[in-house]
Amino acid sequence: MLTLDRLDKVYRTGTFGTSDLHAVRQVTLDVQRGEVVSLIGESGSGKSTIGKMVLHLLDSSGGTITFDGRDVTHLGFRARREYYRKVQGVFQDPFSSFNPIFKVDRTFETLRRSYFPRVSSSDWRGRLEEALAAVSLEPGDILGKFPHQLSGGQLQRLLIARALLLDIELLVADEIISMLDASTRIDVLNLLVELKSRGLGILFVTHDLSLGNYVSDRVVILYKGRVVERGVTAAVFDDPLHPYTRDLLASVPHLDRTWEDVEAEEAERSAALAGRCLYHEALAAQGRALGEEASAADGDDVGLVEHSPGHFVGCFRLAAGDPCPAGA
Ligand SMILES: Nc1ncnc2c1ncn2[C@@H]1O[C@H](COP(=O)(O)OP(=O)(O)OP(=O)(O)O)[C@@H](O)[C@H]1O
Ligand SMILES: [Mg+2]
Repeated sequence: MLTLDRLDKVYRTGTFGTSDLHAVRQVTLDVQRGEVVSLIGESGSGKSTIGKMVLHLLDSSGGTITFDGRDVTHLGFRARREYYRKVQGVFQDPFSSFNPIFKVDRTFETLRRSYFPRVSSSDWRGRLEEALAAVSLEPGDILGKFPHQLSGGQLQRLLIARALLLDIELLVADEIISMLDASTRIDVLNLLVELKSRGLGILFVTHDLSLGNYVSDRVVILYKGRVVERGVTAAVFDDPLHPYTRDLLASVPHLDRTWEDVEAEEAERSAALAGRCLYHEALAAQGRALGEEASAADGDDVGLVEHSPGHFVGCFRLAAGDPCPAGA
């Protein structure tokens, strides 16, 4: 449904826009209908930048975005409006998504006027109440209030209700769990799982591996703007291949295992992979090594290879400038 192909983002930074920050490099991934794909990486790895490009809040610097078979990389005003009928985002900071001078009911009224001008007021009221109930919000508690009178969790659930009203096909959820308390957290996670079973595709942005593990069908591991590994959640979590993914997983406490067990397992894996780069080994096996290795040495992204069915890994270089252990 959604495909990103070699998506790039370069920010102009510095006082006079004189230096470039290459925040997203050649990112390729897809999200299918009824599927949750987690985009996981540490702070600054480019997750939100990717989400914002998908939502057309930022222009991309290269590559393409395809939605339902249509190239949506660049959209004019009208096409963008149509796109937002199908694709919406919920963010870490939900306050910024609301107009602070409008009460919540006015915000929803604007939505009705823009997208459903033919729906009667009473019909709309019914739909609105249904959507609010789905996110466990009482209309009476919410509608007459200004955004600053609501909690972060309530605003986030309102954004999800808005997505429900629009009956969207793809939701970009950017760190939406971080500001919720434990009990609301599980409600929102379960809501996402339910929406998924109704066919919604979700790009779930998080730096929290356990959340990624809990909700997603597939995961994409991002490091310094590059995809270093991606695949079916269980495959990536049970058999992490890239050194960065292994570090990430080794640093998460496991309730069911001792620290020593986790360390011993990681030590064994590291010994087995020491001095190797599965990406370049696979290329060599395919007889494609020379040209590809040259570009790896240049610090460009050279993509991923399929190590086992549905499980892809990139070069073991940790960042542009670091050597690849295979010597490329
Ligand atoms: N508007 C901007 N102008 C310049 N640089 C930016 C801008 N937005 C983000 N960046 C930089 O791009 C890189 C990626 O940022 P991004 O917000 O996508 O990371 P993230 O993975 O979402 O991090 P976090 O987990 O902290 O939200 C960072 O180095 C960041 O400083
Ligand atoms: Mg972010």
